[in-house]
Amino acid sequence: MNERAQASETRESGGFRVDIISVFPSMVEAALAEGVVGRARARGLIDVRVCDLRMFTDDRHRVVDDVPYGGGPGMVMKPEPLFRAVEAIAAERGQPSAVVLMTPQGRRFTHVEAARLSALERLIVICGRYEGVDERVAEALVTDELSIGDYVLTGGELPALVVVDAVARLRPGVVGDEASVMHDSFVRGLLDHPHYTRPAVFRGMAVPGVLISGHHAEIERWRRDQRLRRTRQRRPDLLDHATLTSEEQTDLEALRAVNKESDHESD
Ligand code: ADE
Repeated sequence: MNERAQASETRESGGFRVDIISVFPSMVEAALAEGVVGRARARGLIDVRVCDLRMFTDDRHRVVDDVPYGGGPGMVMKPEPLFRAVEAIAAERGQPSAVVLMTPQGRRFTHVEAARLSALERLIVICGRYEGVDERVAEALVTDELSIGDYVLTGGELPALVVVDAVARLRPGVVGDEASVMHDSFVRGLLDHPHYTRPAVFRGMAVPGVLISGHHAEIERWRRDQRLRRTRQRRPDLLDHATLTSEEQTDLEALRAVNKESDHESD
């Protein structure tokens, strides 16, 4: 594709292109066809494609892995198909701003990382498989090794989908209500407050009265209090880096003071 055609395609997709390299392209494609990401693709807001790594093998059996040097269990992903795949994508779609390898050895993927990637124009995401990927891929091809958490999955396909989903929803227009993205738990470092919908009483469980009161200031105060309580109870680590408003800061100190008092009483 020439540069003008590339530029016009980039503009149509809101300037955001992602290519995911996998040995299970249909698994990845199926997930990308649905929901918010599927709709954003159909509307041309993001341009996400899946690349079958086996297309870049040169043997009859389309082999992408081999035994590890030095022995040991499992297989290692060969470097040649991965280098060829990334080079072919770069030639067709433009030089990538980042080449991400999904691996449990990577840096932890967080909201900050998602925001950084969402500001880039062209991403390539490699789904690792088997025992791992030949280290020369990580050294010479990859810019970022990312892990989605401290557990080992059978491959990088689900992690790649997690990353693409989290990054895509930060792109303009992908999520209908931009305010809802700004209110995301990890943007400010607080967990979300509870949500309720009709009916007002379900199997004897009533919606908190304040939410039905119609008193907007009271509702906002209740939600603020719930966000702080939940975060303190479930993820106190987040509070160390949370950006709190002065009202939240005051409420949090009050909550801490109440807790200290009740700790003393139970001594
Ligand atoms: N591949 C296998 N487990 C993974 C994880 N936790 N994060 C990223 N890629 C992986």
